[in-house]
Amino acid sequence: MTESSAPRLDPPPVPIKTERLELRYITPADIDGLRYYTDPEVCRYLPFPPADEAALVTRVANMASRMAPSEPDEALALGVVQDGDLVGDLMLRLRTRADDQSPPAVAEVGWCFAPSHAGRGLATEAATALITLAFDYYPLHRIYASLDPRNERSAALCERLGMTREAHLRRDFPEPDGSWTDTVTYGLLREEWPQG
Ligand SMILES: CC(C)(COP(=O)(O)OP(=O)(O)OC[C@H]1O[C@@H](n2cnc3c(N)ncnc32)[C@H](O)[C@@H]1OP(=O)(O)O)[C@@H](O)C(=O)NCCC(=O)NCCS
Repeated sequence: MTESSAPRLDPPPVPIKTERLELRYITPADIDGLRYYTDPEVCRYLPFPPADEAALVTRVANMASRMAPSEPDEALALGVVQDGDLVGDLMLRLRTRADDQSPPAVAEVGWCFAPSHAGRGLATEAATALITLAFDYYPLHRIYASLDPRNERSAALCERLGMTREAHLRRDFPEPDGSWTDTVTYGLLREEWPQG
């Protein structure tokens, strides 16, 4: 890979407060709050298996290190807190840039919420704040989400966010059992975001 000559981007202005939530950096002490990553139902459509205890420790440590993305494939991970409880987490992963002098202009979003906090619009509220941060703070023109088309709750969240279902790729994602699943992509351009 070519070494970038783009200056590193500063860390984003975190924490962020919304009506009901705080979005903040994750720390290793969040391991109990993030235990939903051991739940097979939560991980059903995630691109990795449910964590055992060792994998959870590694996962949380990785998330805690994701504070100041700047280069393609670097990520920001945020914990979503309501009344002191960690209820979910969000990811913004920087992807494509125009050339090696430029910061990334395309980013991917991801989300995971504790089943005990589902169905109250918390993921919508938190993801709205993440996308606002992404367009306010990073020079992005496009944000996208990739998901298994069977993940109806995640697709519904993309649609609540105003994202457009742009593509359905057939059998492009390998499963551990040797089968291949489809992927759908939702996209959002800066000018489509109300605050963009
Ligand atoms: C994807 C995921 C975050 C969606 O969670 P969710 O609980 O469906 O989303 P929200 O928190 O935004 O809640 C939406 C629900 O609350 C309702 N709601 C209530 N108040 C609301 C409000 N103020 N704003 C928006 N929705 C509201 C909505 O009508 C919707 O109801 P429904 O469940 O009957 O359709 C969650 O299913 C998840 O973490 N899944 C496991 C991980 C995963 O698959 N991640 C994505 C990988 S691509």
